[in-house]
Amino acid sequence: MEIHHRALELIPGGTQLVSRRPTRYACGVSPVYAARASGARFWDVDSNEYIDWVSGIGAIILGYCDPVVDQAVCEQIGRGVNFSINHELEVELAEELARTIPCAEMVRYAKCGGEACAIAIRIARGATGRDKVLFCGYHGWHDWYLAANLDAQANLNAHLFPGIEPIGVPRALAGTSIPFPYGDLDALGEALDSHRGQVAAVIMEPLRSEAPPAGYLSAVARVCREHSVLLIFDEVSSGMRFGMAGAQGFVGVTPDLAVFAKSISNGYPMAVVCGKRDVMQQAATMFISSTYWSDAIGLTAALTTLRELRRRDVAANLARFGALLQNRIDQAAREAGFGARCTGLSTAPHIDFPTDDPAMRTKLATLYIQEMAKRGCHGYASFYLNAAQGAAELEQTAAAARETFSLLAQGLEKGALDALLECDLQQDAFRRLVR
Ligand SMILES: Cc1ncc(COP(=O)(O)O)c(C=O)c1O
Repeated sequence: MEIHHRALELIPGGTQLVSRRPTRYACGVSPVYAARASGARFWDVDSNEYIDWVSGIGAIILGYCDPVVDQAVCEQIGRGVNFSINHELEVELAEELARTIPCAEMVRYAKCGGEACAIAIRIARGATGRDKVLFCGYHGWHDWYLAANLDAQANLNAHLFPGIEPIGVPRALAGTSIPFPYGDLDALGEALDSHRGQVAAVIMEPLRSEAPPAGYLSAVARVCREHSVLLIFDEVSSGMRFGMAGAQGFVGVTPDLAVFAKSISNGYPMAVVCGKRDVMQQAATMFISSTYWSDAIGLTAALTTLRELRRRDVAANLARFGALLQNRIDQAAREAGFGARCTGLSTAPHIDFPTDDPAMRTKLATLYIQEMAKRGCHGYASFYLNAAQGAAELEQTAAAARETFSLLAQGLEKGALDALLECDLQQDAFRRLVR
């Protein structure tokens, strides 16, 4: 917290990523600054050891400091990282992606997920000659996306953090970015009808932690085709967690374009925009260009990570491990007499607390984060898996959850949850985070 106070003096908002703000966790109890990490764990600057159930906010899929990826990167550093001319790795990675991801007939690169989404939107607008975008879910910080809140400040509430003011986003973009609710085909159809002939793309996460309703995504693809609108899957967070063919392979629906980042390179900055040839080819006529997008570190890290994901059959292992974790968390809750359930797809499990009251849920989630942190488990009431997590992490987490759930059950029964809180409530709303 001492370092964080220094940061607040010099860094607006204190961090570069909202999800790294200490107020997102049990502020003052949860770790805030990491010193090092290895495998499934990290150590904070006070030398406390934690199992990392956030996996580098999803960027880590093989585990921290994966020896194979890191060795490949180190060897590449010895050969140079950024050149005046191109490097063949750029093409090798494109070939690997084209073999791996169903929609990837051509690819471009970037460094961050939000940046890659912005590129995909540019390509879609350029390819269709239309301006409007229909979106569902979180897609980064760029103007095209935050423009949604120019029309109504609550537009992004169900998709991102509540309370975002579109400060600094040109008012001229009002009406260009329109949200639709996930799972509601009629709502999407109505939005497409009322903006007929003006929509360039529908961008959405195909799934997060729950399976999509049966037939929903193929119907989305169909209505997009009917309206000549491009369908973009944002696979930044799902990455290769659901299979080597990405979430699109898992759900069996091939979009026109897709965006990957985060776990595609096990923590090294790298992002991919890929898609059908007739759409992607048009990017050659658009000005989309940056010095670092094809640096040899990101290319090597992505190429090696993809090969290791396939060689180690990581997606299947994550699904199996996640199911074990769900069982152990459920068992811990039963033993503690606490009505929580660990639900969702086993690759992306999360804890449902026994309440319908959002304020109570926040309190229980904060207490869960607080008590789990005290027992060496860092994370939200949800789990980002990685391949380095194993039996030791399972045992420690199950034991910590049993103790935590016992405390919560007692607190609930006695109506004394507040007395257990050693920190402010976890904050979701963006406005309240702004210092
Ligand atoms: C689905 C999705 N899209 C885009 C982003 C933005 O990625 P980045 O933080 O790398 O810009 C994220 C980040 O969490 C994400 O989950």
